[in-house]
Amino acid sequence: MRIGIIMGGVSSEWEVSLRTGQEMIRHLDPDRYTAVPIVINQRVDLIRQIQQAEIDLALLALHGQYGEDGTIQGALETLGIPYTGSGILASSLCMNKRLTKMLLTAAGVSTPTGLCWQRMDDYDPRAVERIGYPVIVKPNSGGSSIGIQLVHHETELLTAVQESFTLDQTILIEPYIQGMELTCSIIDGELLPIIGIRSTHSEWFDYTAKYEVDRAEEKVIELAPAIHQRVREAALASYRLLQCKVYARVDMILCQGIPYVLEVNTLPGMTAGSLLPKSAAAAGMSFTQLLDRIITCSLR
Ligand code: DAL
Ligand code: MG
Repeated sequence: MRIGIIMGGVSSEWEVSLRTGQEMIRHLDPDRYTAVPIVINQRVDLIRQIQQAEIDLALLALHGQYGEDGTIQGALETLGIPYTGSGILASSLCMNKRLTKMLLTAAGVSTPTGLCWQRMDDYDPRAVERIGYPVIVKPNSGGSSIGIQLVHHETELLTAVQESFTLDQTILIEPYIQGMELTCSIIDGELLPIIGIRSTHSEWFDYTAKYEVDRAEEKVIELAPAIHQRVREAALASYRLLQCKVYARVDMILCQGIPYVLEVNTLPGMTAGSLLPKSAAAAGMSFTQLLDRIITCSLR
């Protein structure tokens, strides 16, 4: 079976995507699959590149815009090529943090909510004052923490907002929830061991902490049974509600026993240091077995 590993792309996370793709190629079972790397550098060539590769399945190693947001999923559906992971709707919903939060809130899942601004004219420091500092300013559809800023005082607000608007047309300003960051990897509707994260280089789990060696402690965490149950329910409810399929990773912050869902990643990072493979390993699943499960499940 010819597996096209689609990687790179044009989002701000293209570099992470290349690392995800390389790791997938390295671990794909050579006895069962032929790996066909498809490196995307620009959108115009995408369809031609995929068609020329003559693949039986697209293994998506893309992250962010034009990869994780339903667009490539739509193109592949149109071409009649099966692909890994969630479909169009779940992909585009999860890429939109505001809509994700609206649905989660409606379903009773806790998530930090605040302001949503769509132009500089919306800038209103008094509204931010009402949330209370510190606040998190973030692009609505970003990934890998790119562009996320922790703002402690009003004096830092304007620059943070301007910077966020360079990355997205919609930005969110939310209360900073202090607690332990948790990540819940789900495969085929099954929760893998939960990982707790402690950034050792900054106040939160930013890009450096995510991708540089020894910048964060990431360990399978033992939670009290009642809290474990709450975290599990929040993760699985988010996965189902947003109509995710095959696999996803639900990121949250645990504060005073309450899990606040930050976002759902439909194509979570699979680099050598990424959390989903770590969580799978803790469940006794090698990277090769994980890929095999993702492929088998996607073809069902
Ligand atoms: N957006 C990155 C790749 C992640 O969630 O792992
Ligand atoms: Mg993410």
